[in-house]
Amino acid sequence: MINVAIMGHGVVGSGVAEILINHPKRIADKVKDEVNVKYILDLRDFDNLPYSHKFIKDFNVILNDPDIQIVVEVMGGCTFAYDYVKACLLAGKSVCTSNKELVAVKGAELIKIANDKNVNFLFEASVGGGIPVLRPMVQCLTANEITEITGILNGTTNYILTKMINDNQSFSEALANAQALGYAEKDPTADVEGFDACRKICILASLGFGKHVYPEQVATKGITDVTLEDVEYASRLGYVIKLIGKARKLDNGNVTASVSPTLVSRSNMLSGVSDVFNAIMIRGDEVGDVMFYGRGAGKFPTASAVVGDVIDCAKHLKARKYLFWEDPSEPFVTDSSKDITKLYVRVKTNNTKALCEKLVEIFGNISYIKNDAENEVVFLTENDIEQVLLCKLEALHGIESIRTLHVID
Ligand code: HSE
Repeated sequence: MINVAIMGHGVVGSGVAEILINHPKRIADKVKDEVNVKYILDLRDFDNLPYSHKFIKDFNVILNDPDIQIVVEVMGGCTFAYDYVKACLLAGKSVCTSNKELVAVKGAELIKIANDKNVNFLFEASVGGGIPVLRPMVQCLTANEITEITGILNGTTNYILTKMINDNQSFSEALANAQALGYAEKDPTADVEGFDACRKICILASLGFGKHVYPEQVATKGITDVTLEDVEYASRLGYVIKLIGKARKLDNGNVTASVSPTLVSRSNMLSGVSDVFNAIMIRGDEVGDVMFYGRGAGKFPTASAVVGDVIDCAKHLKARKYLFWEDPSEPFVTDSSKDITKLYVRVKTNNTKALCEKLVEIFGNISYIKNDAENEVVFLTENDIEQVLLCKLEALHGIESIRTLHVID
């Protein structure tokens, strides 16, 4: 019998407990051994569950029980979760987690401890919820050099943007709906400011490119200032606005990473990813583009990925899975504004005619939308280094305000 402890009985934790406890035969058939949930750690009381007798409040019970070989961490955050996961790994227990903050911030350190102790540290659920993406990237695509990762990595913001695009709802209306439906947290900051997507692109980039990309190295911008006017202009230009996490390998081996509201061409497969769905496009030098699509959040989709890790761990108690990356010894992440991009530019001006003339002078024969009623001009640049494009924009005269968004075709 293989004994498991679950730390946390929130949305995902209860899903993990229910799958493991309700489907013992399904799991035993796959593992060729019984998988038993011995403890569930949570400070709250859960008196009326069929498995209430499994709850404990003291982490040391798990740590000091030599029968516990696999620990599931679904508490979230980076304080207790970090201390407990580190202690479990150091004690020679394998850990499976859905905690993207923990992996994005402490991944390299925890992976190294797992390696030294010859146990597994698995975190498939930390990116894309139920979508299998981390293992496929490092196992099925291992013949490739990964050159680019682009994704819609946050369900809440994708739902909000979909409502703005399809139903003409304002950002705050769409956010209120997302909260009413239980997609967004009461405090939706991590979703709408892009921090959640930032953690996920860190994990994807670290795994895909082999060295840790930390959240503070990712230029991160959320969707709070995307307006219905932007959505409308994007639509007229043949694009939809999505919150895109992106990481790219440069010719010198360094990488860039960013999270930003981005105009996505309607011909790009990511443009069709709506509502709370997530999608991750991975580009390999041999395979080309591969897209992974599905439910990126929610109790059972996420628990499905965690239990998949538990089963994998249970089947490979003596073998290390090759999900790893190192802490870079030299600078590895380059400022993403030094990378090539195309920009959407929306300018408010006191003289649209003069501005359009200047535009042609600076950018050549580009097409633009001239909105005299609003004193606005909107246009797309060609691909160039972002800093170069921003410098060119500084030369425009008569600007009252200007905003730019990334564009992908
Ligand atoms: N808040 C996240 C989202 C949950 O909306 O995608 C999954 O990480």
